[in-house]
Amino acid sequence: MTRHFLRDDDLTAAEQSAVLDLAARMKADRFGHQPLAGPRSVAVLFDKQSLRTRFSFDVGIAELGGHPLVVDTQVTHFGRGETLGDAGRVLSRYVAAIVLRTHGDDRIAEVAAGASVPVVNALTDNFHPCQLLADLLTVREHLGGTRGRTLAYVGDAANNMAHSYLLAGALAGMHVRVAGPAGFGPDPAVLDRAAQLAAETGGSVRALTDAVAAVRDADVVATDTWTSMGQESDGLDRITPFLPYQINKELLGHAAPTAIVLHCLPAHRGEEITDEVLDGPQSAVFDQAENRLHAQKALLAFLLTGGDGSTDGPDG
Ligand code: CP
Ligand code: NVA
Repeated sequence: MTRHFLRDDDLTAAEQSAVLDLAARMKADRFGHQPLAGPRSVAVLFDKQSLRTRFSFDVGIAELGGHPLVVDTQVTHFGRGETLGDAGRVLSRYVAAIVLRTHGDDRIAEVAAGASVPVVNALTDNFHPCQLLADLLTVREHLGGTRGRTLAYVGDAANNMAHSYLLAGALAGMHVRVAGPAGFGPDPAVLDRAAQLAAETGGSVRALTDAVAAVRDADVVATDTWTSMGQESDGLDRITPFLPYQINKELLGHAAPTAIVLHCLPAHRGEEITDEVLDGPQSAVFDQAENRLHAQKALLAFLLTGGDGSTDGPDG
């Protein structure tokens, strides 16, 4: 059966761990893995803007020995002159995998329903699972593992990053707290699913409105923009209610002294995070951005070849 990666929980906890193990090996031997040699082609399609995702997939596919086809969908018939299912079906005749950044999750689900090759979510309105693989790799590198560590995400707790932190963090055995203003909390169905996963891995999840309570003694403090792509003119005040959730020196002072700071970027300096924190000693943000490359290479290898399925040991 074709394996897609549309949400963080499309991998099991063991598979997530295996992908992260493989990512670490690929990072240590960057040009030594060529599972896409042939070359096998991968379509990387964008309905929305991107810097990191675009370049990390393009470079990563090439480093795996494959052929990246990076295309903005406005120049195709994608979802306009033909159905998304038909587009997925046609592309499957050419490429080994389809990577897609789009709006609603219904859109990527339609592509996947038509596709006979793996479809990878490169960000939708509700999830950003490739980003979370990079984030978890970064947590492993800086903190020695994920299991039992506490991650606090503060800001827009209703967005794709909040949902992916809940699902992927729970799978990784973390204690995940997401905090946002009233009306900007996570989808209850995602929170329930994350709680179910956490019960299996020994983690936990909580949705809060108090940023200080969320951050208290946390090992990882994360945030994201208060205005995601597509929300620019939704008529909501996306500044005032969020001000108490800014990651600044004072808020970070409530976390563990050894805490690291994550931000998927692009950052709106002076809004969700201050320069002092983003450029400070606790920031792991640029390692996190680099890790998109290594994590996505491992994910593609896993989806296209089954990886080698092994783990390097009990990190989890
Ligand atoms: N973090 C992230 O996905 O960045 P881009 O929007 O630049 O791809
Ligand atoms: N939540 C942000 C993430 C950008 C990488 C957005 O969807 O725009």
